[in-house]
Amino acid sequence: MAKKLYIKTYGCQMNEYDSARMADVLAPLGYEPTGQVETADMVILNTCHIREKASEKVFSELGRLRHAKRDREAAGQEMIIAVAGCVAQAEGSEIVRRAPYVDIVLGPQTYHRLPELIARAKRAADPSRRGIVDTEFPVESKFDHLPETHAASGVTAFLTVQEGCDKFCTFCVVPYTRGAEMSRPVEEVAAEARRRVAGGVREITLLGQNVNAYHGRAPSRFIGKAGTAGEWGLGRLARHLAEIEGLERIRYTTSHPHDMDDELIEAHRDLPQLMPFLHLPVQSGSDRILAAMNRQHRTADFLRIVGRLRSARPDLALSSDFIVGFPGETEADFEATLALIREVGFVMAYTFKYSARPGTPAATLPDQVPEQVRNQRLDQLQALLREQQQAFNTTMIGRRLPVLLEKLGRHEGQLIGRSPYLQSVHLEAPEASIGQILPVDILALFPNSLAGRLASGHAGARERLSA
Ligand code: 5AD
Ligand code: SF4
Repeated sequence: MAKKLYIKTYGCQMNEYDSARMADVLAPLGYEPTGQVETADMVILNTCHIREKASEKVFSELGRLRHAKRDREAAGQEMIIAVAGCVAQAEGSEIVRRAPYVDIVLGPQTYHRLPELIARAKRAADPSRRGIVDTEFPVESKFDHLPETHAASGVTAFLTVQEGCDKFCTFCVVPYTRGAEMSRPVEEVAAEARRRVAGGVREITLLGQNVNAYHGRAPSRFIGKAGTAGEWGLGRLARHLAEIEGLERIRYTTSHPHDMDDELIEAHRDLPQLMPFLHLPVQSGSDRILAAMNRQHRTADFLRIVGRLRSARPDLALSSDFIVGFPGETEADFEATLALIREVGFVMAYTFKYSARPGTPAATLPDQVPEQVRNQRLDQLQALLREQQQAFNTTMIGRRLPVLLEKLGRHEGQLIGRSPYLQSVHLEAPEASIGQILPVDILALFPNSLAGRLASGHAGARERLSA
């Protein structure tokens, strides 16, 4: 009988990708996904270390799982509990010390070893056994050991091309939890992309902690040719992927301003598949704070990059990450951030209150900003960003946008799709049009999405009228 696998994913899209790949690794062992934890033979918490109190949240989730595991064991069933991802990497054996019922702790670089880890956990028959901890950064790449992705999938997909970070921003744990930068070879990425497209995917988001620092081994037929280095950057990779028939849209996230090179900017100019929406974290608009953050760019550098990107692709919409209340941030520094947001006209952003991460340089800086001030700045920042997002969305009303139809909506006959600018669009359309990019007239705004109608005279629209 099939065994049930329950995966709970926290944090970023890379964790979502990793969770899907862990499910791929376990499928040959007979594990099928379930949404109900009580019925699961195996539970994986794929954790994230970015948010405040991340570890504590994982321990309280584990506390709940302990009861579920006990109930299953009382009924003669098993529940293997694994903790994966960045909290696992950071906490390691501390997890099995505090939660001895955890069977496996594995870091982001070792999940291809799950079958072996499960076998080892099962061999240790003693119920009071110590959990198995595997959080090393192995020499071999997990990608060489993973099975191919499942053919069945939706219309959009994530594809990890790069992992790790060498930037060491002073507030961030990623360089410690995900390790040094590494890039997958171009041919490997292209093969995975082709498989996904053959399985129905129309839009691929290339993922990496520092995705535009990508420098993957070039396809062998290019190596040694004049003008071709042994490695390609992200711009060249995007150009290569754009040749895949049926791959209509390419996105990438998350980028660092420092790595926005000429080739990538030119790709935005030349490739219609590269969508005009870019997430480019800047974190602050104050040069003093940027320096204290070790960001390797100043505000002027950022504005110059944005200018060049917009000359390449005039309709480019920008999103970003901001931290308020970094140690030493004054009111003037914060005002500079607001000014930058207005100047660039970001249409979206993820906003964070600075919170100290043990082991990072900023955690021990003097002048930590009081909670009340951080809260107040966060509110102000979010209000401005909401205003700009609303203004941007309003400019969509009356426009005709190409919308990639992704899935069924909540109401009968309704589909949900995505605009080039990553906005959700609700419209009525036949289910058979899922996977197509159709022209949609935007009519109105919902709080977090757009409402539209298939452009009249279009095949999809006619089909619906005659149905
Ligand atoms: N405090 C607040 N925000 C943080 N981020 C990363 N580390 C911290 C921290 N210690 C934010 C940054 C990053 C995003 C993924 O999370 O803005 O870009
Ligand atoms: Fe963290 Fe900075 Fe690396 Fe981004 S670039 S992952 S914020 S250290």
